[in-house]
Amino acid sequence: MKSKEEFKGFSEHDYRPILRDKSIEFLEELIKTYKPKRILEIGTFIGYSASVMLNTDKECFVCTVEKDEKNAKDAIKNLNEQGFAGRFEVVHADAMDFLVAHQDEKFDFVFLDGPKGQYIRYLPFLKKMLSKGGVLLADDILFYGLVRSEEKIEHKHRALVNNLRKFIEAIENDSQLDTTIYDFANGMSKSIKKD
Ligand SMILES: C[S@@+](CC[C@H](N)C(=O)[O-])C[C@H]1O[C@@H](n2cnc3c(N)ncnc32)[C@H](O)[C@@H]1O
Repeated sequence: MKSKEEFKGFSEHDYRPILRDKSIEFLEELIKTYKPKRILEIGTFIGYSASVMLNTDKECFVCTVEKDEKNAKDAIKNLNEQGFAGRFEVVHADAMDFLVAHQDEKFDFVFLDGPKGQYIRYLPFLKKMLSKGGVLLADDILFYGLVRSEEKIEHKHRALVNNLRKFIEAIENDSQLDTTIYDFANGMSKSIKKD
């Protein structure tokens, strides 16, 4: 598999919102453990995490949603170049529009790695779309420590941090979900749909 530095589009971004090493390891571990057949990813960027999932389990299919047109195009190129044609779909769309339009589809695994402030809005749709026993993995939920900080949050991050707090509270208190919060990297949550 190509390293993330070799992905088309990687060097063009000053800010490279790609998974940290520990999150990649954890993603691989979960894919090996749960062996999902149909995976939904929110937030493709240039296809790196999608390629990790496709490479980890040769049987899975990944549908990944990306709002930015250039990222979506780069991701398609990157994933095709690595021989994943026919095993993925990159949807160029706003995630909320996608979720509303596809809410009757089922996925065994969701990797939520799009706009952090929107996770709480996506949650009802994602819960509905997860199959029984399915896994919802969300990245960056502790947002550089700010989510658990007792300090006053700077105005520019306040809405995002409040929405992540609401997201965490919702997944922890949902009787349909069995949730674990992980402190590593930038914080991840794993929620398993019980019924
Ligand atoms: C953290 S990056 C994804 C990284 C990717 N999962 C990886 O690890 O290789 C988040 C991506 O979500 C995309 N994004 C932001 N807002 C979005 C939205 N409303 N709908 C869909 N994608 C969005 C961004 O353009 C960005 O590429």
